[in-house]
Amino acid sequence: MSDIDLADLEFWRRPLKERNEAFARLRQLDRPVFFPERKVPFLRSGTGFYALVRHADVVEASRNAKVFSSEPAVTNPEPPGWVKHVFGESMVNMDDPRHARLRRIVSRAFSPRMLTDLQSDIEAACARIVDDVVAHGPRDFVSQVAARLPIHVICDMMGIPEAERERVHRQVDASTAYSGVRPSLWRSARMAAGNVLALLALQRLVIRLGHERARQPRGDLVSALVNANPDGERLTDRELGSFFTLLLVAGNETARNTMAHGIRLLTDHPDQRELLMSDFDAHIGNAIEEMVRYVSPIIQFRRRVTQPYNLRGLELKPGDRVVLFYGSANRDEEVFPDPDRFDITRETKPHVGFGGPGPHFCLGANLARQEIRTMFRELLTRLPGVRAVGEPELLLSNFDNGVRRQAFAF
Ligand code: HEM
Repeated sequence: MSDIDLADLEFWRRPLKERNEAFARLRQLDRPVFFPERKVPFLRSGTGFYALVRHADVVEASRNAKVFSSEPAVTNPEPPGWVKHVFGESMVNMDDPRHARLRRIVSRAFSPRMLTDLQSDIEAACARIVDDVVAHGPRDFVSQVAARLPIHVICDMMGIPEAERERVHRQVDASTAYSGVRPSLWRSARMAAGNVLALLALQRLVIRLGHERARQPRGDLVSALVNANPDGERLTDRELGSFFTLLLVAGNETARNTMAHGIRLLTDHPDQRELLMSDFDAHIGNAIEEMVRYVSPIIQFRRRVTQPYNLRGLELKPGDRVVLFYGSANRDEEVFPDPDRFDITRETKPHVGFGGPGPHFCLGANLARQEIRTMFRELLTRLPGVRAVGEPELLLSNFDNGVRRQAFAF
């Protein structure tokens, strides 16, 4: 196992196939392995972590949030303390009761009624995206198709005025360009600084909007979040800013990368595509779950152990860190036989691409499913020959399973 070091950024440069083989070997071991981390001033705490690579271990840790805390942060490497001071805290990095309070307030953004109301807008956006592809010709699936929908939907949900959207797009691109894997410390620091400035500008934008809606409420989500609900709960300025950042970070790249990998999967597996198109409505639900399992758009999240706990024979102590490797859990051969096969009819236990069961399970999962379903319906029915061409250009990251560019044709 000496050639596998999940804490070493070099590991994430290896080809996907090699990394998958490394995780398969780690899954064979009796116990989770500990990976020490290097301390990097201002950027990394250097605590080291146990890697949870089996499906059962990821589920156990996700479910048991009292023992496996999301504080101080779920990203890996753990960000330094100043990040929290600059951005305020995001619910994904909190435990109950603070997390539960925020989740109660913002859940209304994802209620079935809200999602039904969004559907006609999502359909119109998908139709416009395909119109533009037809008008300008296919070049890059990521920028022309996959990247456009999720950010449009988030801006719509939050009521960001049309005039501001271009700026939001640019700032989101600047902030998500930081992938956690960088060639040099200097470059990391430069990217992190760009990241901070772009995200702060976005927070200021939505806080200003919140002030307007507090004075003059409309029927939109920001009005609902800044004005008290029947229980008297509302978001503060800082919480509203952090929520918007979280949506942009959690709901943008993830959905986009699923679509970008998805078009390649459908191209590489013509039998699965044929089956899907034989009865789109019957198969698309399962096909999306299989895409999310296969792709695992979020590679990993971290937890901190709060009390002594025995995990599959491993004695964990308070303060230990564990990292939940979703991509590995989703290829656990005990749960997903022949895990490298893309099979839209798979009948297995739920994957953990949207997180394991527990208080932090992805709040936007149904919205993501709705976006992906509507986009693929529009694409595959209007452009039946649409397909990925050549190899994708992948993002170098230990966090996002991202696609930078994917040529396509129809
Ligand atoms: C295919 C697309 C998506 C994937 C794979 C994905 C994945 C995840 C994962 C793994 C978590 C769990 C975090 C944890 O356990 O610590 C999560 C949480 C979250 N996701 Fe998603 N996500 C997707 C789409 C979205 C969308 C579209 C939105 C909203 C617009 C969204 C909003 C959130 C939020 C707010 C949380 C935090 C929930 C909490 O802490 O209670 N996600 N997501």
